[in-house]
Amino acid sequence: MAELIPFDERDGALWFDGKIVPWRDARVHVMTHALHFASCVFEGERIYSGRIYKLKEHTERLFASAALLGITIPYTEEEIGRACGEAAEVQGITDGYVRPVVFRGAATMPTVAAQRAGVHVAIAVWPWPSYFDPAEKLKGIRLDISEWRRPAPDTAPTKAKAAGLYMICTLSKHAAETRGYSDALMFDYRGLVAEATGANIFFVREGQLHTPIPDCFLDGITRRSVIALASARQIPVRERAITREDLPDFTECFLTGTAAEVTPVAEIGPYRFKPGKISEMLMNDYATDVRRPLVTATV
Ligand SMILES: Cc1ncc(COP(=O)(O)O)c(C=O)c1O
Repeated sequence: MAELIPFDERDGALWFDGKIVPWRDARVHVMTHALHFASCVFEGERIYSGRIYKLKEHTERLFASAALLGITIPYTEEEIGRACGEAAEVQGITDGYVRPVVFRGAATMPTVAAQRAGVHVAIAVWPWPSYFDPAEKLKGIRLDISEWRRPAPDTAPTKAKAAGLYMICTLSKHAAETRGYSDALMFDYRGLVAEATGANIFFVREGQLHTPIPDCFLDGITRRSVIALASARQIPVRERAITREDLPDFTECFLTGTAAEVTPVAEIGPYRFKPGKISEMLMNDYATDVRRPLVTATV
């Protein structure tokens, strides 16, 4: 196995507060508000063959997430979109992962109030082939069932891709990995099926796709792409409440997310699924879609 270089000791460069800086020097102070109070939002994007897939949607979501936390990003969406491209270019990466992160700084005493703490933006790009092991992907991954529930929308800003919402995801993922699973399915505050720790979930029954309504978790950009790809194939998609009792009725299951892409699932706790035609078709359609050349208007 290749030697794992700690992320903060790597060579290269990244975009930090409007400038390209050496990767190793992109540090923050321990008094950073985000470190103490999770005042941080971020994005996860993938660049394929030199183009960031759905960059506009990701940038819009970054700004929407920041707004939900009362954070004003001191750049325009166009500037951040361009900066994502610069961060990839400076790293010489045409296929990889792009991580914009927005966080409150250390200008004031780290207490709950943070109006004058300052806002920082960084964008780092690195190679990241596949979230789950590719061989495992075709077999279908195994999901644990998390003990943590996605919170109600009136208890947290659940539409934001905010760092604080990932505390229970890390706990769930660690518990799953300790028990030999790849990831975990999380139910929501009502006991309905919600999503995995960093990806949305779909099921198949009798040629139809079923997926939970994203009313207390992220309506993933990949989720929306996959719904469009399924519609293009005339596969009916039902966004609906899914309970634990529904799980034995489904034949196929897969996760969607920028990092996970389309990843078939073989097990969720005691429930079994067989990665089949629909999962494979959408996995391949998504792989084609992310590299599809942009259609430019002709005059
Ligand atoms: C908790 C969570 N749900 C869903 C998703 C999928 O979102 P997207 O497809 O926009 O990457 C992600 C990944 O960003 C995530 O972290």
